[in-house]
Amino acid sequence: MQSEITNATTAIANSVDKPIVVALDYPSLDQALQMADQLDPQRCRLKVGKELYTRSGPKIIESLSAKGFEIFLDLKFHDIPNTVAKAVRAAAEMGVWMVNVHASGGRKMMEQARNELQQVKDNQTLLIAVTVLTSMGRSDLAEIGLDVEPMAHVQRLAQLTKSCGLDGVVCSAQEVAMLRTALGSDFALVTPGIRLSSDSTDDQQRIMTPGKALQQGSSYLVIGRPITNAASPMQALAAIEADIANA
Ligand code: C5P
Repeated sequence: MQSEITNATTAIANSVDKPIVVALDYPSLDQALQMADQLDPQRCRLKVGKELYTRSGPKIIESLSAKGFEIFLDLKFHDIPNTVAKAVRAAAEMGVWMVNVHASGGRKMMEQARNELQQVKDNQTLLIAVTVLTSMGRSDLAEIGLDVEPMAHVQRLAQLTKSCGLDGVVCSAQEVAMLRTALGSDFALVTPGIRLSSDSTDDQQRIMTPGKALQQGSSYLVIGRPITNAASPMQALAAIEADIANA
């Protein structure tokens, strides 16, 4: 059992050559596949989220995998332990590279999900958790009964995630330095909100450049519109790679 966890973390340590995960935020299979056809699976992974998956189902995972892409299935499961564990198993059996749950589901939920994955033959799927949604501020947390600073709650949930044997967390780039210090090197930090200084910020509030995010300790960068809205997605990807190389 332990060796499977170790294999997954070794995979994290070795992944720095391909840290970019392109968010395929599209409403249809066809649009998502059209974008994938413009990208190189040797140079990026892809993220499939709730809208695309709800509209297209497992077919999107099959189609993108057939094109050679590794997929982060971003469905943020949060339910009773048995339900989440079975959903995580289903994701692993579809062959996704990474899947996630809400850390607020608690220890029993996360441990059962991890245990379920360990029973999948030759499992390679990484299991990570979302801590505090970046859309939640101090007053939003207070309203749901959590009288804590968001950063303190992020750290608490990330530590819980690690102690449950998961492979990492999704976090904002602003949280990376603090979490890397608190959690050590064998833990994936997956960060959205990434922009080059020349990019539009879109609706992201607190952004960081790709090179700086990796320097601060990020493991993977989730990047959507700067690539998917570009006239040439591969040129946009190359500009991000250059920022990383020059950081
Ligand atoms: O287009 P953009 O680069 O802003 O896309 C970022 C991706 O990361 C989107 O799929 C968004 O839903 C996701 N995300 C985020 N902030 C979080 C968690 C996920 O932007 N805190």
